[in-house]
Parts: sequence; structure tokens; C-alpha cells
Amino acid sequence: MIIAVDGPTASGKGTIAKALAAHFGLPHLDTGLLYRAVGRQVMLNGGDPDNAADALAACAFAEGLLDDPELRSEASGGLASRVSVHPDVRRALFERQRNFALQAGGAVLDGRDIGTVIVPEAPAKLFVIASVEARAERRWKEMIGRGEDVSRESIADDLRRRDERDTQRAQAPLVAARDSVTIDTSLLNREEAIAAAIAAVRQRHESP
Ligand code: DC
Repeated sequence: MIIAVDGPTASGKGTIAKALAAHFGLPHLDTGLLYRAVGRQVMLNGGDPDNAADALAACAFAEGLLDDPELRSEASGGLASRVSVHPDVRRALFERQRNFALQAGGAVLDGRDIGTVIVPEAPAKLFVIASVEARAERRWKEMIGRGEDVSRESIADDLRRRDERDTQRAQAPLVAARDSVTIDTSLLNREEAIAAAIAAVRQRHESP
């Protein structure tokens, strides 16, 4: 059972992917974390995230970097979005993601291009979306909860910039796979979004 979960930042795809993995007893890979690690490594190297050679060199990050809480920050998300436009970076991370998806027993992966590029043959593909307002509100609550001082408007602006970069890039842009099921979480709470995702995956498995 391979489950591909794609969608924009703060749509709820990470929460949904984790819950699906727990529900179906599958390993989970948050592929955004790999791009975040590359972005962070570029900075540690003193490089430029917009430079393809610097970004490619940073793909050789040490595994331990994936445990760094700094990767969860908005700054790391922005850097990840910038390094992810380079085709060489996407190629360097491809095999790792594909091997994870094809391990015996199956897996859940979440990202931007899982259902379109990494495992287009995945039987269950979800495309998780939500309005910019709903996503900004969630992100704002998270950040305020961590004691960070930010406005909803600045978060919404940042989300729009990230969406634009992720959907407009030439290679593997964020786009729904033809055979994906779209889940709009704008008006759903956590439990409702997870229930909708489980139902969609079950349906795909029962009627391939
Ligand atoms: O899902 P996230 O916010 O952690 O992703 C951070 C950035 O990484 C995102 O803005 C674009 C890039 N990314 C990607 O290009 N392809 C993926 N499969 C996952 C993330």
C-alpha cells in the first residue's frame, strides 16, 4: 500500500500523512524535511540557496541534520522552497524518496510531487488543499503558541510567495495528479480531515 499525499504548505497534509501512517501501520516520510535540510546545509556552508551548484553540494547533508528542530522554522521552509527549484537538487533526492515508497509493505510520503513524479503508480493519491486564510490562521496559532510575534497578514503573504514558487517552477511543480482525490481542509477540523483521508484511501483500495 503506497499512499502519496501532496499539497501546499500548512494545508494539513503533514498531519494527515502522519495519521494515515499510524492508522494503516505504515512508515512515513515527510519529504519537505529533505528539502529543508538542503536549505539549511546551504546556509551552514555559507552558500547561496538560489545558486544551483551550492544547492547541489548541500544535498550531501549529514543524516543528523534531519533531527534539527530549526528545520521546522518558517525560515527553513522558505530556504527549502528556494533550493527545491533546482533540477539537480530534485534529482539528488529522487532515489531516496522512491526507495522509501517502494519498501516492502508500503509507505506514506507527503510532499509536492509524490503522486506526479516520485511514485506516479501509487494507488492512493491525496491532494490536500485549504484557503490561504485558513492556512495562515493555523500557522499563526502555532507560532503564537511558540511565543513568536507575527501577524496573520505577514504569514499569508509568505504562504502566497511559497505557493507561487512551488506551483510556477519548471520542474515538478505542485499540481494535483490526474487520479488524485482532493481534500479541502479549510472548513474541517483535524479529526474530520483525517477521517476524510482514511475514507478516500479505503475507497481507492477497494475499487482500484
Ligand atoms: O512541505 P514543506 O513545507 O516542509 O516543504 C518545504 C519546501 O520544500 C516547499 O516549499 C517546496 C519543497 N518541496 C518540494 O519541492 N517537493 C517536495 N516533495 C516537498 C517539499
